[in-house]
Amino acid sequence: MWECSHCGHEQAKWTGSCVQCKSWNSFMEKLVLEQDKFVAKKHRSNSPVRLKDVQLQPFPRISTHLREFDRLLGGGVVPGALTLIGGEPGVGKSTLLMQVSEAYARAGLKVLYISGEESVDQTKLRAERLGIDHDNLFLLNETSFSEIKHHIDQCTPQVIIVDSIQILYKEEVLSSPGSVSQVRELAQEFMHIAKGYGITTFLIGHVTKSGEIAGPRVLEHIVDTVLDFEGDREQGLRILRSMKNRFGPTDDIALFQMQEKGLKEVENPSEALLSQRSHHVSGSVIVPSLEGIRSILIEIQALVTPTAYANPTRKSAGIDPNRLALLLAVLEKRVGYRLYNQDVFVAVAGGIRIIEPAIDLGIIIAIASSLTNQCLDPKTVVLGEVGLGGEVRNVSRIASRLQEAFSLGFARAIVPKKALAHIKEEKIALIGVNMVDEAIEAVFQKK
Ligand code: TYD
Ligand code: MG
Repeated sequence: MWECSHCGHEQAKWTGSCVQCKSWNSFMEKLVLEQDKFVAKKHRSNSPVRLKDVQLQPFPRISTHLREFDRLLGGGVVPGALTLIGGEPGVGKSTLLMQVSEAYARAGLKVLYISGEESVDQTKLRAERLGIDHDNLFLLNETSFSEIKHHIDQCTPQVIIVDSIQILYKEEVLSSPGSVSQVRELAQEFMHIAKGYGITTFLIGHVTKSGEIAGPRVLEHIVDTVLDFEGDREQGLRILRSMKNRFGPTDDIALFQMQEKGLKEVENPSEALLSQRSHHVSGSVIVPSLEGIRSILIEIQALVTPTAYANPTRKSAGIDPNRLALLLAVLEKRVGYRLYNQDVFVAVAGGIRIIEPAIDLGIIIAIASSLTNQCLDPKTVVLGEVGLGGEVRNVSRIASRLQEAFSLGFARAIVPKKALAHIKEEKIALIGVNMVDEAIEAVFQKK
C-alpha cells in the first residue's frame, strides 16, 4: 500500500500528490502484514449483556504525592492505562514525566523510562537537577521497538514512559520514524503491552504550534487518556489539560510552575495567574472562567492602537481569532465604536487558552477600555456570553465563579441580568446587564 505521511490516506498506487490533503510527494510505501488479518479473527466475540446486569467494579487507582496530577487523571492513574502527553518541544514533557516516574517509583512501582531522544547520561543529568534518585527507576536509551519489547520482557516494569513516540521505529514498517504509519503502529503495540501485561504506559508526543506534524493527533482515538501540556515558555506557568479520559473527567486542568528544580504544582491557580497583574492600566479585565470543574480567575488584556496600514491587524493569543472578529463586529454595530482603522490585540495573560464563551463580555470590555483609555475598577470582574445582537447571555455555574472572585477579594461583578434570578446569596455587589452597551456604561461610570 501507499500511505500519505501527512494525513494517513491509503491507496494502492503511488501518485505525486495526495487526493485527500493535496500535499505533494508525501506517499510512502507501507508493508501490510498478512497476519494482521488473522489476529482480528482469533478474538472470540462477546455476547450481548443486559445493561442492568453489568456489574460495575470501581477502577483501582495508583496515587502519588503529585496531587494535582492525580486529580487530573480522576484520582490517580488506572493500572494498565495508556496515556498520551502531547506538547510543543521544550514545554517540559520530559521533566514532568521524570517527576511522575519518581512519584510512581516512590509508590513502590518498578518504572522503566525509555528515552530515545536523550542518552542515559543526559537523562541522569536531568534527574540530578530534579533531585531524583530511586532504586525502582530504570533508564533505557533505545529507539528500536523490537529491542524495547525485549527489554520490557526482561525488566518486567509496572510503569513505562516512552520519550518520545516519534523517535521510535518498528523495523517491519518501511516509513521513517515519526511518520503517521510508524506512530500508529507503535501506539497499537504499546496498547497491546499496556492491556496485555497490565503495564501503565505513558507516551510522549511532540506537537507543533499548528498541532499537525506526524501527529499525536492520529493516535488520540487509540489511547485511553490524552493530556495536553501547554504554556508560555518564557513565563514559568504550564498547564496540563485533560482532553480525553476514559477513566475520569475531561476539560479539567492542572497548573504547574517551571522552576530551577523542575515543575512545582500550583495549588491556587487564580492567585498565580493574577500575581503579575498591574492595576490602573487600561485594557485589562478579570474574568472568572470555568476550567473543568473549577473556577479560575483569568486576566484578559487588550491593546487598541490606530493602524498605520491599509488593513488593520487583529491578533489574539489564548482566544479564538474568529470569536474576536465576531466580538469586534458587535462592538462596531451595536455600540457604534469605530474599529476599522484600529489594530486590535487581545491576549489571555499567563499563556492560558480559553474556549468558553463566558469570557465574551470580558473581551468586549477590555477592548472598550483600551480604545477609550479608561481603566476598570480593579475590584470588578466581568462575566457573560455575547450574542450577535449585542445581548448579554447567561453563563453556566455562575455561583461557583462568583465564589472564586469573592475569595480573592473582588467586590463587584458585571453579570447577565438573567443570572440574577439564580443567585441566592450575594457576597459581592452584582450589576445585571442585558446589552453590551449597558455593560460598558456600568463599568466606566464614575462613582
Ligand atoms: P524538557 O522537559 O526537556 O522539555 P520537552 O521534553 O517538552 O522538550 O524541558 C524544557 C525546558 O525546561 C528546558 O528548556 C529547561 C527547562 N527546565 C527548567 O527550567 N527547570 C528544570 O528543572 C528542568 C529539568 C528544565
Ligand atoms: Mg523531551
